[in-house]
Amino acid sequence: MINRGFSQAFLDEVISKNDIVSVISKYVTLNKRGNNYWACCPFHMEKTPSMSIKEDGQFFKCFGCGEGGNVISFVKKIENVDFYKAVEILANNAGIQMPSYEQDEEMRKKKHLKDRILSVLKATSEFYINNLTKTEANKHIDYIRERGLNKEMVEKFKIGASLDYYGLINHLRSLGFSDKEMLDAGVAGKSENGKGLYDFYATRLMFPIMNGLGEIVGFSGRDLTNSPQHAKYKNTPQTLVFNKSQLIYGYNFLRDLKRNKMLDSIVLVEGQMDVIACHQVGVNSAIGVMGTALTANHARDLAYLCKNIILCLDGDGAGENATYKAINILKDANMNVTVVRLTKAKDPDEYIKKFGKEAFLNELYNAIDCVEFILIDLATKYDLTKNSDKNKYINEALDYLSKLSTKTEQEIYLSALKEIVKVPIDVLRNSLHGAKEEIKRKEEPEEIELKANAFEPIAKRCILSSLLYKKVADPQLYNDIFDKQDEFRVIYDYILDKYNKKEDINISTIYSCFDIEKDSEWDNVINYIFPSDEVFNDYFADAVLRLRIDKLKKQKQELKNKIAQVKDIDEKYSYLTQMQELDNKIIKLEKGEK
Ligand code: GTP
Ligand code: MN
Repeated sequence: MINRGFSQAFLDEVISKNDIVSVISKYVTLNKRGNNYWACCPFHMEKTPSMSIKEDGQFFKCFGCGEGGNVISFVKKIENVDFYKAVEILANNAGIQMPSYEQDEEMRKKKHLKDRILSVLKATSEFYINNLTKTEANKHIDYIRERGLNKEMVEKFKIGASLDYYGLINHLRSLGFSDKEMLDAGVAGKSENGKGLYDFYATRLMFPIMNGLGEIVGFSGRDLTNSPQHAKYKNTPQTLVFNKSQLIYGYNFLRDLKRNKMLDSIVLVEGQMDVIACHQVGVNSAIGVMGTALTANHARDLAYLCKNIILCLDGDGAGENATYKAINILKDANMNVTVVRLTKAKDPDEYIKKFGKEAFLNELYNAIDCVEFILIDLATKYDLTKNSDKNKYINEALDYLSKLSTKTEQEIYLSALKEIVKVPIDVLRNSLHGAKEEIKRKEEPEEIELKANAFEPIAKRCILSSLLYKKVADPQLYNDIFDKQDEFRVIYDYILDKYNKKEDINISTIYSCFDIEKDSEWDNVINYIFPSDEVFNDYFADAVLRLRIDKLKKQKQELKNKIAQVKDIDEKYSYLTQMQELDNKIIKLEKGEK
């Protein structure tokens, strides 16, 4: 059981005092149908509801993207926090006191370490902000002025200054932080002789990085010397709380916008200076990733807040590549992606400086659909006045369109393509569908093979789910079906144990006892869809029978293999007898039940 340091009783209390229906309804609109509630799943974008919320079992499952779990899993995913934090949110919500982790030393230590790191980071940020008021910060102040950042932005983004190598270390020590805590937080480096600590960002202009909750989890420090020996930006290394590939600069402000229902579309830019420049001209939904490529994780976090996104990356070749990659990732997360390519400046910050707010907003208003962008951009690589080039281009374009999900979508872009190449749309459509069919044909054999082996898990899921939901009473009758090494055995054991102890099974509790990933066997059993009531009994009996017969047949095959190998005649006969017994059993089963 993995309660992650919490007692089961405590988790059960948190779960029981946070009705899943009312918790989820704070985030999405629910519709009641029959005994279930349904909603458009917030974890992937969709227009028709495929997430079901079960009031009696207190769990949810999305049949679109596969996410599922109890109320804790839901909060964990939607608030983008860890298990501990999700429990804390729900405990606060219900006015339950969090336990003091005396029972679990490890949990307590980790939580303590994390709290200390966050405190170091907060104190560091306050120290840097305060530095800006000192005369020694004149270089930093000049730089802020030079970049045109106003006071409001300096405050909103908590910009600060590191003035030297030891000021921060002395200050943090005076607050009682240890050397190890400073190193763990990533604000201190160790000098080469290994003795002293120094400010990791010494003399830089400091941008704190906040997580979605607005907590400072790291820093990015900009070099002011413009010396090629210094990295332009120096970021916090990976720490317990800082993971670049998961963070989005400005995400906390996006959440504020969403909460105030003021989020219409997200604007993705490349650097943090660009984010700030956008906010300064009122584009408060500008965000950036931390000098890494956009990942599917980022996309999921964004899609959950808002499905419209405008890409406004740097104008150079790297920015173009990044745009292509981002389009794929964001489209996979079902977002509506539009694109702005800045040609007259290298990035949004420079563009705003050169041409002003109105011109920039105009660029955003005129963002073009991402597929249209790709079609147009691809075309620039060919000379469409030449027939051979035009053919190559059409093939490349159709190949891209064939990967789009819906026919409607393809149809829209076919007419865009028609405009570019001036070829009748029927011709384009025919070649497109020809290309697609070929892809389909290639994939088919694999699917068939899958189906041939699929019976056993399906039947086992049916049995376990029937026991779980008490459609069938006595689990002891099916002990022979689940071998000790069977991956389903843990589930069977759990159900049997509850039965023997005469305890009710609470589905939402199962989610806090086991790590249930989507498409895992627990997930499949909990969310098994039963055949209709009229056929259920036959279906169930059939599943049990076939599993028993298949198992005997497997044993028979094993005996056959042994017989082929043994030399001792007595041994051989004993195997043969056993085989006969198996045969009789099989015949009996087949006759008895049919
Ligand atoms: P400015 O020159 O200050 O305007 O920077 P920018 O915001 O235009 O950044 P740029 O487009 O050069 O880079 C985009 C992002 O990559 C920055 O915001 C940083 O997060 C990151 N980055 C840039 N340079 C470095 C570097 O030298 N080291 C690291 N670790 N990250 C960098
Ligand atoms: Mn820039």
